[in-house]
Amino acid sequence: MDDDEWEYFFDVFDHLPRGGPGSNATTGKAFRMIENMPEHPRVLDVGCGPGMQTLELARLSGGHITAIDLHQPFLDRLTAEAVRLGLRDRVEPLKMDMSKLAFPDNSFDLIWSEGALYSVGFENALKSCHRVLKDGHCLAASEAVLFKGEVPPEVKDFWENEYPDITDIPGCLHRIESAGFEPLSHFRVPKKDWFDHFYDPMKVRLKEVMPKYRLNTKAMTLLGTMEREIELYNRFSDRSGYEFFLMRKR
Ligand SMILES: C[S@@+](CC[C@H](N)C(=O)[O-])C[C@H]1O[C@@H](n2cnc3c(N)ncnc32)[C@H](O)[C@@H]1O
Repeated sequence: MDDDEWEYFFDVFDHLPRGGPGSNATTGKAFRMIENMPEHPRVLDVGCGPGMQTLELARLSGGHITAIDLHQPFLDRLTAEAVRLGLRDRVEPLKMDMSKLAFPDNSFDLIWSEGALYSVGFENALKSCHRVLKDGHCLAASEAVLFKGEVPPEVKDFWENEYPDITDIPGCLHRIESAGFEPLSHFRVPKKDWFDHFYDPMKVRLKEVMPKYRLNTKAMTLLGTMEREIELYNRFSDRSGYEFFLMRKR
C-alpha cells in the first residue's frame, strides 16, 4: 500500500476496538489452557494493536505485560486505556518490530500474539520469539488458516492478495515445529469473534467515512475491499479463518 492508502486504512482501523478478530472470551479460553504459570508472569504481547487482549492478559495473569506494535496511535490508545483501568503499572506499550525483538534471551514466561505474526511470516515471527521466551515456556498465537475442504476461487484470490503464504492447520503445525516449538493444542476462533469487535464496528466506521471520500477513487477502492472482505468471510467462514495455537519452547 502507498502512503495515501495507509492513511485511508488507518482512518478506519484507528477507530475499531480491535485490529483483528478476537474476544476476551477467546483470550481467556487460550490462557486457561496454559499450565504452570508463575504467580506474576512476565508476558510479551506481539502486535498488540489497540490492546484489548493486552488488558485482558493483565487482568487474567496478574503479571506484567510488555505490548509491542509498530503503529504508535494503537500504543497511545492502549496506554490511555491502561491508565483508565488502573493497570498502567503492569502494562508497558513499546514501539518495536517483532522481527527485531530488543530483549535479552529467555526474558518472558509467556508470549502472546493475536492475528499479528503473519505480518512478518508466521514461522519467521515464531523463530524471533523463540529466543526471548524462557526454555520450556509457552507461546499462544492466533493465525489465519485455510480449513478442510475445497477453497472457493473468491477466497483463494482474497488470500493471494492478503497473505499468499497462508496454509492449513497441518501446515501451521509444521511451521511451529520448524521454529523450535512443540505444538500443544489448537482451536478455531469462533465466527462471532470476527463480528463483535471487528467487522461490525468496521461496517459502522465505513459508513461514517465513505461520504467524505466519495469523489476519491483510490480511497473508495480500498474501502470497497474492506466491505467485500466482510461479505466474503460471512459467506465462507467455514473455508478460512483464524486458529489459536498453543505451543511450548523445546
Ligand atoms: C491484525 S492486527 C492485530 C492486533 C491485535 N493483536 C488484535 O487482535 O486486536 C496486527 C497488528 O500487528 C502490528 N504489526 C504489523 N507488523 C508488525 C511488526 N513487524 N512488528 C510489530 N507489530 C506489527 C500491526 O500494527 C497491527 O496492530
